[in-house]
Amino acid sequence: MKIGSYEVEPATYLAPMAGHTNRAFRELCRELGGVGMVCTELVSSQALEYSRQRAMRFFDFAASEAPMAVQLFGAEPQVMAEAARLVVDLGAPMVDINMGCWVPKVVKKGGGAALLGDLCQARSVVEAVCRAVEVPVTVKVRSGLSSAQETAVPFARAAQDCGVQAIAVHARSAEQGFSGSPDWSVIGRVCQAVKIPVFGNGDLTTRAEAETMAAATGCQGWMVGRAALGAPWIFAQWAGLLPEGVPPVEFRAAVALRHLHLTALHSPLSEHQAVRELRGQLSRYELGIREQLVRLESYAQAEKLLIKISDGAELADLRGSWHLPPPPARGPCDRERPQSPVPP
Ligand SMILES: Cc1cc2nc3c(=O)[nH]c(=O)nc-3n(C[C@H](O)[C@H](O)[C@H](O)COP(=O)(O)O)c2cc1C
Repeated sequence: MKIGSYEVEPATYLAPMAGHTNRAFRELCRELGGVGMVCTELVSSQALEYSRQRAMRFFDFAASEAPMAVQLFGAEPQVMAEAARLVVDLGAPMVDINMGCWVPKVVKKGGGAALLGDLCQARSVVEAVCRAVEVPVTVKVRSGLSSAQETAVPFARAAQDCGVQAIAVHARSAEQGFSGSPDWSVIGRVCQAVKIPVFGNGDLTTRAEAETMAAATGCQGWMVGRAALGAPWIFAQWAGLLPEGVPPVEFRAAVALRHLHLTALHSPLSEHQAVRELRGQLSRYELGIREQLVRLESYAQAEKLLIKISDGAELADLRGSWHLPPPPARGPCDRERPQSPVPP
């Protein structure tokens, strides 16, 4: 798949997930292999306008992460356009517009999924962003506000007309949140309506399910969210780089340890804040130490716990023993590995 000049190969996309898909997690997925595209967590265009200095403290992306999109949300075309210009100036290889988030703090200001109820406003936002930047613009939508009000097709058509170069469709309505089952047929209707690449999204956990989705809908790519949490190797498994199934606990602990080290290396948060986020993130690796992980207070404490379970093995040591692919020859994951997150 191509988005602008970027080759997205394979066509698997790590879904944006607030509180999870920070730079550390994106790099971890890339290191393990098999992920073609990644996205930042959603960023408020208004926050960038009102307190640029403060908002910029939370940016954690690098141009070298391409193909990667910085996701923005907001309802004001000019504010969104300004935010898009800013993130592109800072190196964003692509800009993604969020039209799917249904949490009250986003929707009550008219952004995210609220745009799905106002085609005219949504078109203005997309048009303004596409005009503002030269990098590819993508959009992420849900099927509509409710199942009775499916709007994904006219939105996808309008987005394509404005110059959007790819679209991701989460096959649930905003009203559904994460409840019920996704209705993949909406992905098929969007694929029929547009020529730009479509990523199908909703409850994918295995390569076989992804293939079923592609056969049923005609989508060219897949976006994977929750199934990658605590399992960043899922993309490598889909690509045939790792065996299927749950990896051995030492491997899972070594991946969690790498997750910790990448967080210490890249997080723009203080150690206190980053460790609070890590509590939930590391618990998902199911290492049998949930009680200790949810009470973590420092990087050093986490490192000690994880080294014990990984039996002293670093991820690099496990290459070969669990058929780990070689590290990428270039790119963001190729920088020097931190020896320890504990500051000297
Ligand atoms: C914890 C969490 C945070 C999320 N944050 C975002 C976000 O920032 N932007 C966005 O477009 N979608 C967000 N989503 C939705 C996911 O990108 C994805 O569409 C959804 O989880 C469905 O895919 P899945 O079934 O593969 O998980 C979030 C989902 C979860 C579970």
